[in-house]
Amino acid sequence: MGSKLICLWPYRNWLPRCKKILSMTTDLYQHRGPLAVITLNNPPVNSLGHALRHRIVDALAAAQADTTVCAVILTGSDSAFCAGADVSEFGTPRQTAEPVLATVLSQVEDCTKPVVAAISGVALGGGLELALACHARVALDTAKLGLPEILLGLIPGAGGTQRLPRLVGLDIALAMLQSGQAQTAHQLMGSGLLDDVVSQDVLDAACARAIALADELAVNKFALPRARDRQLDATATLARTAQERDKLSPSQRLQPAYIALLDALEAATLPLDEGLRRERELFVQLQASTQSRALRHQFFAEREATRLPVQLQATARPVETVAIIGAGTMGAGIAICALDASLTVILLEQDDAALQRGQQRVSQHYQSRVSAGKMKAAVAAAAEARLSPTTDWAQLSRADLVIEAVFEDLAVKQAVFQKIDTHARPGAVLATNTSYLDVDVIANMTKRPSDVLGLHFFSPANVMKLLEVVRSAQTSAEVLATGMALGKTLKKMPVLTGNAFGFIGNRIYNAYRKQCELMLEDGAWPEEVDNGLQAFGFAMGPFAVADLSGLDIAWRMRKSQTATRDPRERYVAILDHLCDQGRLGRKTGAGYYTYTEGEGKQAKVTDDVVRNIIAQASAQRGITRHTLTAAEIQRRALLAMVNEAALLLHEAVASRASDIDVVMVQGYGFPRWEGGPVFWARQQDRAALAQELQALARGSGHGFVVADASVLLD
Ligand code: NAI
Repeated sequence: MGSKLICLWPYRNWLPRCKKILSMTTDLYQHRGPLAVITLNNPPVNSLGHALRHRIVDALAAAQADTTVCAVILTGSDSAFCAGADVSEFGTPRQTAEPVLATVLSQVEDCTKPVVAAISGVALGGGLELALACHARVALDTAKLGLPEILLGLIPGAGGTQRLPRLVGLDIALAMLQSGQAQTAHQLMGSGLLDDVVSQDVLDAACARAIALADELAVNKFALPRARDRQLDATATLARTAQERDKLSPSQRLQPAYIALLDALEAATLPLDEGLRRERELFVQLQASTQSRALRHQFFAEREATRLPVQLQATARPVETVAIIGAGTMGAGIAICALDASLTVILLEQDDAALQRGQQRVSQHYQSRVSAGKMKAAVAAAAEARLSPTTDWAQLSRADLVIEAVFEDLAVKQAVFQKIDTHARPGAVLATNTSYLDVDVIANMTKRPSDVLGLHFFSPANVMKLLEVVRSAQTSAEVLATGMALGKTLKKMPVLTGNAFGFIGNRIYNAYRKQCELMLEDGAWPEEVDNGLQAFGFAMGPFAVADLSGLDIAWRMRKSQTATRDPRERYVAILDHLCDQGRLGRKTGAGYYTYTEGEGKQAKVTDDVVRNIIAQASAQRGITRHTLTAAEIQRRALLAMVNEAALLLHEAVASRASDIDVVMVQGYGFPRWEGGPVFWARQQDRAALAQELQALARGSGHGFVVADASVLLD
């Protein structure tokens, strides 16, 4: 080996000629002077499926055997060095068929000729692990590198937790692995991960690095730099991981990957092969965990949700100018996300005072982004310059799409839609942001109901990702496609829903909240319900949420339904009694809880007034209150969601079961690592689930419709 390398010396003389000498030997193996260039070629993102792994191993073997080759370059395309494992192989025989990724990496690392990664585009997950096994890494400054496995409930399974800390130290490795977020090569400069970061010609730079390594190897016979030859200090590492264990948040504690990650990092104090064995053990356990399966389910469900069913696919109409009617909480938030997406925005209000308030909401948002250092002043100014506040309805004629966000009152919305119909240009898409009202009734106020749809944003509209795209009876496919496309432009997660009271999300949430209210009457206190559901992983319990958003909205709706409510229904009047006493939630200092101000923070406490109201409600219904365990609370709440989800699917309000999970995770704080109500239902015993739904119906009283949950399970 050594003599062959010496006869090629000095390699640097080859460098200027490298570009011209390219001779194909396999589909991904080329000569570049004395260098072998292995170009990963599995579009679009070079995911490391079985076929590609095989080809890399073959190409490496060819380079190793080729006496005219002194070093190897591993590279990808401009947009992707390699985006990691092929997720579709998970759980299939191909995933474990040799060469597995670990075999590929050990062959890279053990290659006796220097192997240099030339990285542009993304190097993620297994892609970055491949680069870590190389003897040097050269990246374009814009390249994005990261180990996102934690976001799928996993840890890297091919050395990421072992080689990364050995190269960059525990602190940087921990930050990268725990966040799962990619960073640019520019940001990672100086971390020890990259040997060179360049602003152009990454392949040339990698060739230069490879030649330098080959030269040094030839002359000095030095050991090639390998992560394998380093180890973390055991005492310092264990002290640090102990601290990190204490710092894990409640939601991280519910996800085994966060603990496993710390276990794996501790193994970076061992010789590499032992560390790799430990990492693999942990990876295999995590792969089978419910949490990881749930997170992978969400990943695929989200990708699927943004695609319209085949029969509804059409070409979207172009949208550059959006008019928003109503500059309140929602209108201002929608305006901000449209401005952030570089759209031109017309913001229309009923009078100057309301318009000014709306405009201020938008301005304050941008001011606070700039003062927090999160946005450049020039970018904020450009966004605000695209905003045209107005009270002149004639301005609507400039809009490609109009979104109505006025009060949730059918008569008001109907009047507004008549005006929109007068002023909007033919072909403009007309949307309502209603939460509950019938989109058909609103659409029928216009002479063009096929141009009308619902675009249900969530509050705060510039933060929440979910967007329900509501199809009314007459909405055209083109208009639906435009709604979905707008969602993507606004960086939202658009999900198609039918036009039913509350669409998908609010309808399930109402069933859930109602079940939680029944639990109050049966014997639980608000904090017991909230704590039980938080322990399951919900961001907040339903009563804390109700206090935060204000009880008066639900109160108004309940009052409007009084006349039509079936008197046999088991109606829980606790919320009405709270509102009667002026307890409208946080904004009045009291709701289901009492709020006290202290040290600039609002603390919530339980109080006897609420307990008395609840105890009286139980007594009036003749219920002897009994304690509900956290497990019972969780189960009843989840069963209520599952039942409603099955009804929605039966009624074709949801077009796919997995869409329901996306809505509940993205819009309602359902823990992502539990997958959503449909995923949860699929983990239950089928017969037991059916029986439990029957029992839930009996407890919930007249009017509760039991669904056949098998529709969710098949
Ligand atoms: P809001 O009360 O904050 O704002 C409504 C705005 O509409 C007010 O500024 C009002 O001046 C304006 N407005 C009323 N009538 C008008 C008219 N004829 N012409 C022009 N402007 C008019 O209400 P918010 O919360 O923004 O809700 C708006 C819509 O969004 C409602 O349909 C609501 O159900 C829906 N929504 C609200 C959510 C929330 O959390 N607040 C979440 C999702 C949807």
